[in-house]
Amino acid sequence: MPELACINGNFCPIDEATVSINDRGFQFADSVYEVIVAYDGKPFLMNEHLERLSRSLSLCDMPMDLDELKIEQLIADGLSRSAFSATVIYIQITRGVQERNHLYRDGLTPTVLLTFREKPAADPDRYRDGVGLMSTEDQRWAMCEIKATGLLPNVLAKNRAVRAGFQDAVLVTSDGLVRECTASNIFVIHAGALITPVADESILHGITRDYVLRCAALANVPTDERSMTVEELCGSDEAFISSTMVDILPVTRIDQQNVGDGTVGPVTRALMAAYRQGMPHAAQPA
Ligand code: PDD
Repeated sequence: MPELACINGNFCPIDEATVSINDRGFQFADSVYEVIVAYDGKPFLMNEHLERLSRSLSLCDMPMDLDELKIEQLIADGLSRSAFSATVIYIQITRGVQERNHLYRDGLTPTVLLTFREKPAADPDRYRDGVGLMSTEDQRWAMCEIKATGLLPNVLAKNRAVRAGFQDAVLVTSDGLVRECTASNIFVIHAGALITPVADESILHGITRDYVLRCAALANVPTDERSMTVEELCGSDEAFISSTMVDILPVTRIDQQNVGDGTVGPVTRALMAAYRQGMPHAAQPA
């Protein structure tokens, strides 16, 4: 079962895939991306991911018709060729190839890259015990709702957090407002209610975040989308992060403080169960 790439419609083994050094994605991170997981060949929440991809493209002045690019067909083709039971589908669309110039030419042909890799198995200990987050200042740009490939601040924050013994960094404004983590959204539970920062331009509008909010409605957990301070985060009863790659991952420590009693709480557990119920069978891990 090979890990595959598909560049502008041509499939090849992943190690053989190349793009030009003049690709604007390489030169300027002039590109956007999506990550979708498929279970038994069925992409989970694909329409939602493709809608967000369209939105990211439009917000970067690269409006494009994903049907014309045959993205859904390429996904189906890649899934049947790679045939993993759980597949991470990465899609990246760059503005195209041009000699390095900040000013882009009109009419460039976008580079469309997809990769199909086996999803690594989840670590059950992390789901049982929860993980720790290090708070750090959010140093990203002002358009974080775009799923853009320019992720250097995220990369630096994540690596510093892991080197300091945490699973990830939680990004906080200079005023102490919590935004999200380096590759996931964040939720807390306080007095039985599920609270998460508002989906404005300062965070990625996570597909999993939306799905978690829908699960909460089904599980009769009240929700509140509003700003939250880092003190509130640290003093909450429970916390978790959400993303396509981790689904719902409990957080039991922020900096040097336990969240609640330092164990995975009942509302998080109920939401994890509700979440799994809506997923394809193979997606029921830890
Ligand atoms: N990251 N916030 C950020 C900054 C992210 O990069 C991601 C996802 C999320 C969660 O979004 P979703 O629920 O749609 O996966 C939130 C992906 C998985 C990545 O960069 O690999």
